[in-house]
Amino acid sequence: MNWPHKDLIGIEELTSEEIYTILDMTKSFKEISKREIKKVPTLRGKTVVLLFYEPSTRTRLSFELAAKRLSADTTALSASGSSFAKGETIMDAAQNVMAMAPDCIVIRYPYAGLVKKLAETLPCSIINAGDGYHEHPTQALLDMYSMREQLGTLEGLHVAIVGDILHSRVARSNVYGLKKVGAHVTLVAPKTLLPPGVDTWGVNVATALDPIVPEADVIMMLRVQKERIHEQYFPDEREYSYFYGLNKKRVERMKPGAVIMHPGPMNRGVEITYDAADSARSIILNQVENGVAVRMTLLYLSLGGNVNVD
Ligand code: CP
Repeated sequence: MNWPHKDLIGIEELTSEEIYTILDMTKSFKEISKREIKKVPTLRGKTVVLLFYEPSTRTRLSFELAAKRLSADTTALSASGSSFAKGETIMDAAQNVMAMAPDCIVIRYPYAGLVKKLAETLPCSIINAGDGYHEHPTQALLDMYSMREQLGTLEGLHVAIVGDILHSRVARSNVYGLKKVGAHVTLVAPKTLLPPGVDTWGVNVATALDPIVPEADVIMMLRVQKERIHEQYFPDEREYSYFYGLNKKRVERMKPGAVIMHPGPMNRGVEITYDAADSARSIILNQVENGVAVRMTLLYLSLGGNVNVD
């Protein structure tokens, strides 16, 4: 059976069965990265273009590694080194990239809407690597993969997502995905960092972290997105950290077996302390490792691979 989607714009458009297909297939793609020769010929002859109009370490590198491990050709362009700096529109840039016949464009863009428009306009596969506050679907998939790998199941898990929910595409994608697979989500933030209409998202919302800490199976800390914060959402970082930061004392109150996650990049000392980030409960680097395998799966499926779950 072929994967039914040309593009991946958001988790909102996937069914729970499709999410589980991706997670199940990722297990075999992860095995490739453990081999001495980390390369298979699966996507030989395919071309993947990475267009990053916002900074990225994990997403960009892992997409590039994922494509290379499947033998696809890759090339990357960022805003600063492109004609974007000379005033070319992203739509013109994308049409020009398309003229060079890529099979897939992976794109990160600072505003929502554009990635969907490109998917409707261009014949190649478009994968959203994060668009504004909208979605970061591959991050949520690697997060769900990591939770299931560590805790054995997603169904019935209590996942607390803590911090700057207002500006977080990671929170939005995880909420869509976790609800579909039967997990319970609690969003924890000061009122000023909760989006308008959050009460319609179908999740629990809390403004105090301490009561949630011993209840959650997963505590996912979010970065305070200083580059998107132009107003005073909280008095200062020290106060934010006191009420909403994950620190040693809070880690000691976590449920047995519960894990700490963070999509990165971390603001150590703001939303998470050094000892919490590096504690035995932290699976933050497992998330990064799994990011390569999840993206291998998505490139494979988006470029015409068969849905094949052993
Ligand atoms: N998690 C994440 O998107 O990290 P990067 O911004 O480094 O890609």
